[in-house]
Amino acid sequence: MIMVIDFGSQFNQLIARRVRENDVYCQIEPASISMDKLKDLNPKGIILSGGPSSIYEEDSPNIDTAIFDLGIPILGICYGMHYMVHALGGKIKEASKREYGFANLDIKENKAIFKNMDTGFQCWMSHGDSASELPDNFVITASTKNTAIAAIANYEKNFYGLQLHPEVEHTVNGSLMISKFILDICNCKKNWTMKSFCDGAIAQIKDAVKDKKVIMGLSGGVDSSVAATLIHKAIGKNLFCIFVDNGLLRKNEKQILEKSLIANLDLNIKFINEQDTFLKALKDVTDPEKKRKIIGKLFIKVFEAQANKIQGAQFLGQGTLYPDIIESKSAFGGPTSIIKSHHNVGGLPEKMKLKLIEPLQLLFKDEVRKLGAELGINENLIWRQPFPGPGLAIRIMGNITYSRLEILREADSILLEEIKSAGLYRKLWQSFAVLLPVKSVGVMGDKRTFANCIAIRAVTSNDAMTADWAKLPHDLLGKISNRIINEVKNINRVVFDITSKPPGTIEWE
Ligand code: XMP
Repeated sequence: MIMVIDFGSQFNQLIARRVRENDVYCQIEPASISMDKLKDLNPKGIILSGGPSSIYEEDSPNIDTAIFDLGIPILGICYGMHYMVHALGGKIKEASKREYGFANLDIKENKAIFKNMDTGFQCWMSHGDSASELPDNFVITASTKNTAIAAIANYEKNFYGLQLHPEVEHTVNGSLMISKFILDICNCKKNWTMKSFCDGAIAQIKDAVKDKKVIMGLSGGVDSSVAATLIHKAIGKNLFCIFVDNGLLRKNEKQILEKSLIANLDLNIKFINEQDTFLKALKDVTDPEKKRKIIGKLFIKVFEAQANKIQGAQFLGQGTLYPDIIESKSAFGGPTSIIKSHHNVGGLPEKMKLKLIEPLQLLFKDEVRKLGAELGINENLIWRQPFPGPGLAIRIMGNITYSRLEILREADSILLEEIKSAGLYRKLWQSFAVLLPVKSVGVMGDKRTFANCIAIRAVTSNDAMTADWAKLPHDLLGKISNRIINEVKNINRVVFDITSKPPGTIEWE
């Protein structure tokens, strides 16, 4: 295992990803980690992350300097390198200006992290301070035009420092530098595969749940489907799933879930139809935030009522992923904490007194997809695009009625069918239809029409934090528009949304 110490870098998750891409497990820990815990976790190597602070600032993050006496290889990146230099007796120079962007890396020592690499390739820098004096037994291993000390090494102790960011894609050979650190220097074995993860997780779930029951909400999305399959592999019929049809789902959602997941598992599942409950509560509500709040609260109420009917349930399964855990900064204690007590996560009331089972809490989205494949889940389900919890309610601008939901469902289904047959579905982060609250005039079959307008939203993105509008081919857009207008009653106009995020958001509400 490789441990990343969090000094506040926005790239921490990316570092963990890069390590895991080598089939080596990696975990992010706060800089405040105790030496006892660190030793217990027994990392083969430590990566000190970057961070926005300057080493001489009063509250700059620091870690117990005893880590330098553990005999474990350490790689410091940016602030992490400054910390190492400072802690071991070198000097850091405060910058008069930041170096930000591309630089050419001139490698001086073609070994260890830089073994077999050509000299002179592009790297990506983002720093103010830099090292000005090295601690004893360190050498400079690379420089750039503006940064004399761009990389350092103490080969004897296996301490390395990089001023550049190897984790970002713009650094040529960046992934290779990380591979060389973890495989050649730390001697990690490539044994963290989805198969090994899967076996370990099943054993842990069995051990924790024993003969008790787990309840879980299934949404038809990737995360809850994979989590449910994994839990089902561990405890079989003691998993009880609940699927709430709130009337805000896409077309044939229940059938898709049945065909692609449930048919393969001998699953205890209860489908409940609460369409009327939700649509009544949403009647005449047009404010997006109000819609979201009503749906969230009602979902909890409905789910809780169903869950209470399942006698003896002690656990709640959830498809929480690693980025959710890191982002919500919840207490995180490594793979052994796969079960933790329930603290109102997901909004379920404390009184339910359920313990959480979150078997995906160590995984990134693409790893969840790999795990889904390992578990034999239907590919179409694994590769579904994300769908928001409030569903079509936030894709119908203005009033939500049953007939407007039907219009949107039909239009959306045509759009998805065409995107899929053009081979673009997996390339897009999301693609969907939005029903606008305006009517416009048209002419169809010599008759004047006055009908609704559909907007097509299609974006590319890596993480939904930013997104670009997808440059869909014109003939595809034409085909989608024709089909929607011809096949969906009460639509006479289709427009294409060409807004990126920012300034727009992906969803319209
Ligand atoms: P925005 O619209 O903020 O969306 O750019 C970013 C991503 O989040 C999804 N999204 C949600 N997912 N519950 C969810 O589970 C929600 O309330 C919600 N709102 C937005 C959205 O589809 C996109 O992938």
